[in-house]
Amino acid sequence: MRWNRASVGAEDREERSLDPADWEEFRALGHRVIDDLTALLAGVREQPVWTPVPRTVREALRAPAPRQGADPADVYREVRERIMPYPLGNIHPRHWGWVMGTGTPVSVLADLIASALNSNCAGFDTAATLVEQQAIAWLAEAVGFPSAASGLFVSSGSMANLTALAVARTARAGYDVREDGVRGGAERLTIYCSTETHSSVQKAAEVLGIGRAGLRYVPVNDAFEIDVAALERAIVTDRDAGMRPFCVVATAGTVNTGAIDDLRSVAAVCRRHGLWFHVDGAFGAVAALAPVLRERVAGMELADSLIFDQHKWMYLNYDCSCVLVRDPAAHRAAFELTPSYLAPTGRGIAPGHLLFSHLGVDLSRGFRALKVWMALKAHGLDTYAELIAQNVSQARYLGTLVSGHPRLECLAPIALNVVCFRYRRDGLGDARLDQLNAEILMRLQERGIAAPSGTVLRGRFAIRVANTNHRTRRSDLRELVAAVVRLGDELVESTSG
Ligand SMILES: Cc1ncc(COP(=O)(O)O)c(C=O)c1O
Repeated sequence: MRWNRASVGAEDREERSLDPADWEEFRALGHRVIDDLTALLAGVREQPVWTPVPRTVREALRAPAPRQGADPADVYREVRERIMPYPLGNIHPRHWGWVMGTGTPVSVLADLIASALNSNCAGFDTAATLVEQQAIAWLAEAVGFPSAASGLFVSSGSMANLTALAVARTARAGYDVREDGVRGGAERLTIYCSTETHSSVQKAAEVLGIGRAGLRYVPVNDAFEIDVAALERAIVTDRDAGMRPFCVVATAGTVNTGAIDDLRSVAAVCRRHGLWFHVDGAFGAVAALAPVLRERVAGMELADSLIFDQHKWMYLNYDCSCVLVRDPAAHRAAFELTPSYLAPTGRGIAPGHLLFSHLGVDLSRGFRALKVWMALKAHGLDTYAELIAQNVSQARYLGTLVSGHPRLECLAPIALNVVCFRYRRDGLGDARLDQLNAEILMRLQERGIAAPSGTVLRGRFAIRVANTNHRTRRSDLRELVAAVVRLGDELVESTSG
């Protein structure tokens, strides 16, 4: 197949484009790609969870930039041989590492369509803008926010937290931050969150000029939830010292253990002290979609801003995260800016302000909303409710397998869909168990058996299963438990002989 050729009349023959000379060849290649992807997804359970990239492939992927183009069919052959066999593995039923969504076939098609349309979703007068507005309103309502709340899709939970905290900073600094920048010294702006808060909040504080020193880490209780009394004391102490507390970040589903802060109590503290109440619900917020779990995240609907990722527990393909802000005017006030070349024209493609560029950092943006809209249409909120509840009951099931085994123990309560546990043996101290469990984890991953990840809880290494996987079955969890025990026994026996 030849690219870079205009398939047009004689006059234009010498002018080039990046389109194929023969669209039928493009169609045939496209069909092959879809066939291969279908086979890959349909057969994923039979594959190892993860396969390390071989040395030959690593070397081949360090080649000089091509000066001349190749036949796309040959380029695709290389993709098939060198790239497709070595993904992260989060499409596999036994991947539970970090917090990774599984992805869905509907989402694959949505991304393909979005890519072909290639709309810039800054907020022009297109169907894409209406789709994003609709998808945001559906999600807002599903998590208990007013459907008139303001929102947009961004690339990640980290970017969503940054966006929401920028809104909080503008709304509650008490002076014009956009004009003056952030004041330091005695008047420092301060944010409060628990020691279990995701690192993206610290990154956001740093990027927003609040700095690490303006971020107050509040201790947690035995359930890894923020200590609300300590939170309030910290706010009062800072205020008495002349600082400007402006925001509390509570978490619905902490990354380590899935703990949910007492959101109603944090909301009350924010109300009492006039602070912005932000909830990081990167994965946990969607518990609100399931009637059996909704009460666990009660209070989330009181937040001034809320973020949650569609690429985590809504299973959608990377990347997509949603920021919601209760007060649309506050949201716009943080980002609105119209250079002359973007001024509304009253009619045509850009009749009004570019809505989404006024709600975040990005001006040019892709059509992420399509996969959310298509997934909700294709599966429905009720299916999401069932799958989310299924993941939570699978996590509880794993908890019972662990508690019921003499050589395993849970290291944290199971609040939602995260299980932290370890292999143990009588007579082995904590330091040895840390080493042993870290090695078990590496062998699980490297042998392609399963992919949990690890964390450290109160100084002890834990194997951590974050179940945001719509392909997982209970038999997968039994397989994991059997493998952990087998690897642990092997390791203990090989060192005690
Ligand atoms: C609670 C929480 N917040 C924020 C994030 C960051 O999300 P992302 O990885 O999409 O940037 C994560 C990631 O796991 C998370 O668990």
